[in-house]
Amino acid sequence: MFTHDRAARAAMLLLSLTCGAALAQAPTPAPGLSPGLGKPISLEDLAPWDISIMPDGTGLPPGGGTPAQGAAIFTEKCALCHGDKGQGGIAGALVGGPPRASLDGGKTIANFWPYATVLFDFTRRAMPFNAPGSLSNTEVYALSAFILAGNKLIGENETMDAASLPKVKMPNRDNFIVRFPERI
Ligand code: HEC
Repeated sequence: MFTHDRAARAAMLLLSLTCGAALAQAPTPAPGLSPGLGKPISLEDLAPWDISIMPDGTGLPPGGGTPAQGAAIFTEKCALCHGDKGQGGIAGALVGGPPRASLDGGKTIANFWPYATVLFDFTRRAMPFNAPGSLSNTEVYALSAFILAGNKLIGENETMDAASLPKVKMPNRDNFIVRFPERI
C-alpha cells in the first residue's frame, strides 16, 4: 500500500512538472490577443462580413436602381411590415413623417439619417427584418432610391448607384455632432 501511494504521488509530481514545462514553453500571447487558438481568416472568408459602407460612399458595390424598380421590390419584401407605400405598419414609416427640421415629432428617415450611404448599409445588412443579408446589391440600390424618392430627397427617375448615392444630401446632415471626425 505504502509503495503504491508513493508511486502514485511520484507519477502525479512528474505529471505536474511535465505540464508546467509545457506551459512554460508555450508562446506568451501579446496583451489583449487570443492565446494562439484558431487560425487566421482568409480575405475570401472575410469578404461576406466586410460590408461596411462609409459615409463618403467608400465600400459601395457595383450596381444601381431606380425608385420604380425599388417600388416593386418593396411591395414584395418590405410592405408587409412598413406599409404598402412605406407609410408605416407593424414597423415604422420609411416615407413621410413630421417636419424635418426638428425631432419633436419623432425620428424619421428624412430627419434622422445623416447619410444616404449609411441607409444603404443598414438596409443591406439588417433588412428585411425576417431575412437580413438576403437582398442583392442591385435590390438595395433600388430600395434606397424608392425610399429617398418617397421622401422627396431625389427625383422620381434618378438612379442610385456608387456615384450618385454619396451625393444625396440628407436634410439634417449638418446638425449631427460627429464623435470621431477623423474617421470619416
Ligand atoms: C418582418 C418585418 C420587417 C420587414 C419585412 C422589413 N422590415 Fe425594415 N424594419 C423592421 C423593424 C422591426 C425595424 C426597426 C429595427 C430596429 O430599430 O432595429 C425596421 C427598420 C428599417 C429601417 C430603418 C428605419 C428608421 O427609421 O431608421 C429601414 C430603412 C428599413 N427597415 C428598410 C426595410 C426595407 C427596405 C425592407 C424590405 C427589403 C424592410 N425594411 C423589411 C421590420 C421589417
